[in-house]
Amino acid sequence: MNLQFNDSSITVAVVGCGGFIGSHLLDAILSRTKWRVFGVDLDFYRIQHRLNDERCEFMVADLADKSVVERIAKFPVVVNLAAICTPSRYMAEAPEVIRSNYDHPVALADACEKSGSWLIHFSTSEIYGRTSVDSGLLVEDETELTFGPVKSSRWSYATAKLLTERYIAGLKNLKWTVVRPFNFVGPYMDFMPGVDGSGIPRVLANFSSALVRGEPLKLVNGGVAKRSFTSVFDAVDFLFALFEAGQMGFVAADAITEKSPFSQAFNVGNPDNEITIADLAWKMRKIFAEIKGVNIESIPEPESISGVEYYGEGYEDSMRRLPSVEKAERLLGFKAKTPIDVVLRESLTWFVKHYGCLDERLETKDER
Ligand SMILES: NC(=O)c1ccc[n+]([C@@H]2O[C@H](COP(=O)([O-])OP(=O)(O)OC[C@H]3O[C@@H](n4cnc5c(N)ncnc54)[C@H](O)[C@@H]3O)[C@@H](O)[C@H]2O)c1
Repeated sequence: MNLQFNDSSITVAVVGCGGFIGSHLLDAILSRTKWRVFGVDLDFYRIQHRLNDERCEFMVADLADKSVVERIAKFPVVVNLAAICTPSRYMAEAPEVIRSNYDHPVALADACEKSGSWLIHFSTSEIYGRTSVDSGLLVEDETELTFGPVKSSRWSYATAKLLTERYIAGLKNLKWTVVRPFNFVGPYMDFMPGVDGSGIPRVLANFSSALVRGEPLKLVNGGVAKRSFTSVFDAVDFLFALFEAGQMGFVAADAITEKSPFSQAFNVGNPDNEITIADLAWKMRKIFAEIKGVNIESIPEPESISGVEYYGEGYEDSMRRLPSVEKAERLLGFKAKTPIDVVLRESLTWFVKHYGCLDERLETKDER
């Protein structure tokens, strides 16, 4: 088999297809290729518009189920995005987070090794661990990894993801690629608490929700940590660069060379978009005022809160995550290009539109 984009006989399995990245990948596969998609998720509320697409088969299923794993591994390319990946759950539900980010993906890796499928596994930039404010570039095959104590269950997710990477890399006959996302953002990310989800979403949805509700943005421990935000559309372009590289010698075992995308972990991020969380909050507040056409003074200023108070006992953080992106550029010719202001405006515009009714309801309520 050859992975040509115009080959309608190819079906790609996307696990976690109903999630943030999965929903964008699904749209891109359907618009840029003739491939079919076998989508698996616990639910598909984000992709209702695709449920009747004749090139798709969707299965509401749990990756914990062995028969589902066997079924997924029958397809030549498997993209595994399924995971519990919301920080507030790392403290409250560590065993479940570890099962989700270790037990389930390694069972899938074993099945893909047996069937010969190419497994594209989504790991995380959190595997770089407890970085400091002046940590330098994080380089895939060089950076040393330091984690917080076991007592700080903040690290449950990162250590499970890291162990999965090590397991995958240890499987002699598995064709694999690992992706380490650096804060992907864009439309359809997470949820608005109390509307279509509960708990604390990741920072973009968290700040967007507070802005729509007219509440102050909460800066955990002053918001001094830095992140490199990456457009989800750039992330999808990365996956297409990966698919394209995989087309070359997809079947031949000897195609696994230093220049191939197999047996590699890639950082996917945008170092040009590095910003402190505090600066992100002020920037989002300004963009939100522009989108709504209101005076910025009418929007509450961000407020600091301690991590333990906000997330609970066991909270710690990585202070900086600056990706080296040299490897993806060298092997795949890929470089993220969307500037942070564009990403934030696009994401906030979507958020305001998507949750607009609620916004109007809140305004009406406030007026009463
Ligand atoms: N978005 C980012 O910036 C980011 C950063 C680091 C890592 N990642 C990784 O990328 C992957 C996708 O992230 P996302 O942002 O799209 O998250 P998401 O939560 O939006 O999507 C994950 C999807 O997986 C599904 N899922 C979870 N457990 C499942 C199970 N047992 N069986 C079937 N489906 C299951 C969920 O229902 C959800 O739709 C995850 O592995 C995550 O750890 C993402």
